[in-house]
Amino acid sequence: METGLTHLHNLLRYAIVIFLIINVVKSFLGWFGKKEYAAGDNKLSLFLFISAHLQLVVGFVLYSVSDVVKTATSDMGAAMKDTVLRFWAVEHMLSMIVGIVIITLGRIMAKKAKTDSTKFRRQAIYFTLAMVIIFAAIPWPWADMGIAREWF
Ligand code: HEM
Repeated sequence: METGLTHLHNLLRYAIVIFLIINVVKSFLGWFGKKEYAAGDNKLSLFLFISAHLQLVVGFVLYSVSDVVKTATSDMGAAMKDTVLRFWAVEHMLSMIVGIVIITLGRIMAKKAKTDSTKFRRQAIYFTLAMVIIFAAIPWPWADMGIAREWF
């Protein structure tokens, strides 16, 4: 089960990365280009919101079955001194939760905004912040030994 979940979690990563980049670029273009906030813009932010929340659920299930998390949580004191165990048990999870909360706030704030320019501006700011946090916590292939994971 862990392998299937990890594959799903990995796949959802690409959905989030792609939707984050598209949303950020389109929000800045809309903001500075004084464009109209169209139904398509709302859909794009909805796709980002759905994939992020799906990832949150899959992440929690994975967290409860992951061998590396089990090793870490069996002795949290020791795990906090180990960069790899600390990453999987604490840093990855917390950063991603914060990133997903910011995506959620960004969508809510954009929906509440009265003008198209404010919608784009709020999305641009919140989604950029979420992107920085999420990208920093992804175990990219070039990350430190033990944390790095393959592309697929
Ligand atoms: C935007 C949200 C997230 C992204 C982009 C993301 C990305 C990733 C990626 C790329 C991997 C490596 C998959 C592989 O080995 O192929 C991974 C592993 C993992 N993630 Fe996430 N993740 C996110 C959120 C979360 C959350 C919220 C949790 C926990 C609540 C979580 C828990 C885990 C665990 C436990 C592993 C696997 C550790 C192991 O190897 O056993 N992730 N994540």
